[in-house]
Amino acid sequence: MISKFYKFFLCLSVLVLSIALPLLGQEDFPIYLDNTRSLEARVDHALSLMTLEEKVALTHAQSKFSVRGVPRLGVPELWMADGPHGIREELLWNAWQPAGWTNDSTTAFPALTALAATWNVDIAYLYGKSIGAEARYRKKDVLLGPGVNIYRSPLNGRNFEYMGEDPYLASQLVVPYIQGVQENGVAACIKHFALNNQETNRNHINVKVSERALHEIYLPAFKAAVIDGNVWSVMAGYNKYLGEWCAQNNILLNDILKDSWDFKGVVISDWDAVHNTLLAAKNGLDIEMGTNVPKGKSYQDFYFADPYLKVLKSGQASIDELDDKVRRILRLNFKTAMNSDRPWGSFATKEHAMTARKIAEEGIVLLKNKNQVLPIKSEVKSIAVIGENAVKKLTVGGGSSNLKVKTEISPLEGLQNKFGGNMKISFSAGYSSKKESAVLYDEAIENASKSDLVIFVGGLNKDKGQDSESRDRKEYGLPYDQDKLIVDLAKVNKNIVVILLSGNATAMPWASEVSTIVQAWYGGSEAGNALANILAGDINPSGKLPFTINHSLDDYSAHALGSFPGDSENVEYKEDIFVGYRWNDLKLMEPLFPFGHGLSYTSFSYGKARAVKRNIKSQENPIIKVPLKNIGKRSGAEVVQVYVHDVESSVKRPYKELKAFTKVFLEPGDEEIVVFELPREAFEFYSEKEKKWIYEPGLFKVLIGSSSQEIKQEVSLNLL
Ligand code: GLC
Repeated sequence: MISKFYKFFLCLSVLVLSIALPLLGQEDFPIYLDNTRSLEARVDHALSLMTLEEKVALTHAQSKFSVRGVPRLGVPELWMADGPHGIREELLWNAWQPAGWTNDSTTAFPALTALAATWNVDIAYLYGKSIGAEARYRKKDVLLGPGVNIYRSPLNGRNFEYMGEDPYLASQLVVPYIQGVQENGVAACIKHFALNNQETNRNHINVKVSERALHEIYLPAFKAAVIDGNVWSVMAGYNKYLGEWCAQNNILLNDILKDSWDFKGVVISDWDAVHNTLLAAKNGLDIEMGTNVPKGKSYQDFYFADPYLKVLKSGQASIDELDDKVRRILRLNFKTAMNSDRPWGSFATKEHAMTARKIAEEGIVLLKNKNQVLPIKSEVKSIAVIGENAVKKLTVGGGSSNLKVKTEISPLEGLQNKFGGNMKISFSAGYSSKKESAVLYDEAIENASKSDLVIFVGGLNKDKGQDSESRDRKEYGLPYDQDKLIVDLAKVNKNIVVILLSGNATAMPWASEVSTIVQAWYGGSEAGNALANILAGDINPSGKLPFTINHSLDDYSAHALGSFPGDSENVEYKEDIFVGYRWNDLKLMEPLFPFGHGLSYTSFSYGKARAVKRNIKSQENPIIKVPLKNIGKRSGAEVVQVYVHDVESSVKRPYKELKAFTKVFLEPGDEEIVVFELPREAFEFYSEKEKKWIYEPGLFKVLIGSSSQEIKQEVSLNLL
């Protein structure tokens, strides 16, 4: 029989313990590790526990691609990896050489120009989600991408890594990409902030550009990434703006990014882009990466290492400034490396390969299809596949976006996979990027003359001086004498499809002599299968150009005005806001293939567009309705594009600017009323006088079309 006293004692002990234990635990369980607490509380607590040396250690690299954590507090290191199209192979701790791992062969997703050419925000999200999962699986906390520098010249070596000439298109696609990446607990790192629009003299070229062009053309995609995409990090570019390097530029990093846009994330320098400790510390840089320290020196000699510690201790640099950097870095760390709830990711999976194929398919642009040579007809029994790009590895090279891939299906392999069973497919290189060859040329002509169909696969490649980092292209034309080969192939066989793989526009002097032209980008691991699906008609092409393809280099504003690539010190963007189709409109100049152009194997008709209301009060958004019908015989997708024309304005404005678009998938005979609600921003311009975006009431026209040149409908609005 348990005595009453014992029962009482038992209940009392349970009561005391149930109160004491959690309190005991609470004291010993540090706030910064308690993920039931707010992020800011955790960050502040961790900061309060750190020494000066520990804080400084977070602000600079400890290896080529990593930054220290705080071992004493259990805060892990931060690991970064290139690039925007796939996870770069593991490199050595302190060298650009591969580490030789056997488990880091990745999925290559299509280059970002291909993503831009999909004009599909859902695809952009899928892209980010997938590449973020691969970064996560590879235990990378920061993905060094995407890049959104605007395409002002077709000679910029890195345009293949970016999203074209229009700030609105880039803004709309970069946001879902970032959101997809960061759902994996991996930070996206939007780059290269800002005005890094050429590779020539990239490490020091000083960009001179009007404030209006800066805000209307070059900043919008970065602003969308920060404000709409909540990007967790931004990479500061190599070049200068207003005479100061981007990685230590107060106007870009503090005034615009951190103050005006309220960016709470981390500014990471491009590799070896920092030049002064105090300026970088004061002007908004948070993490220094990749500085080329002299031989024998170490990471402790980085600007933000011992030199930074020294000026902090001497009082020349502010501790509060340092604390702000550390808060930002801890915030990012707690959302990534310290985040125990993030998914595990997946790597080089069949699912990701199929995603890569889907993106590549949706990005392929059918530029011309006279005589309906495509899709390939059943009567075709033999195909001559000609061109080095039909077999060349194009996921390799190009600079930091170079990939070691698990697979790369070439165009030839894709065609063999698709048609090999019941068709004769013969390959001739036709030309070589290594050396001129009359033999290759003759073989190709011979092969073409004996086949039912010729599929030429050429374009550019990732060799230096082509589509590659650190150097720009020297010419607008196709290299390796491809133009002559194309013309001669067309002479011996009029059934020719010319397919260009590139990240830039190229001259096409033969465009009127060939019946069918396809722009197929760098399609990644599944490039060949995606291309074959389009050529066979299993997938209906729906890509649209993210940049203008002009007849000649001087048709581009930067070249017409002689302002690319500038001199050895400065480049002045004399074209101001008139980049791309904005320039073509200003000069009433017909491009070879316009921005937003792309054909389909079906046809679409645009019904009468109308505005729900014509007179729009200041707090209202105009709503435009556009009937769209698939009047062809097969399902397909059309990108309905909406451009705004300001009929009367106090400043010179482009004739029209892209301000909305949507990709509509329709079965044959189906019709959809496409609805656009245009926010007030769609009508605004950046006022240099008032230093802000403003709109002027008055008459506007909304131009609806299937490209920037093919305007199908017009609706007038009166903004009150
Ligand atoms: C390169 C590139 C940048 C890349 C970084 C790390 O120079 O400009 O895009 O992420 O260095 O490789």
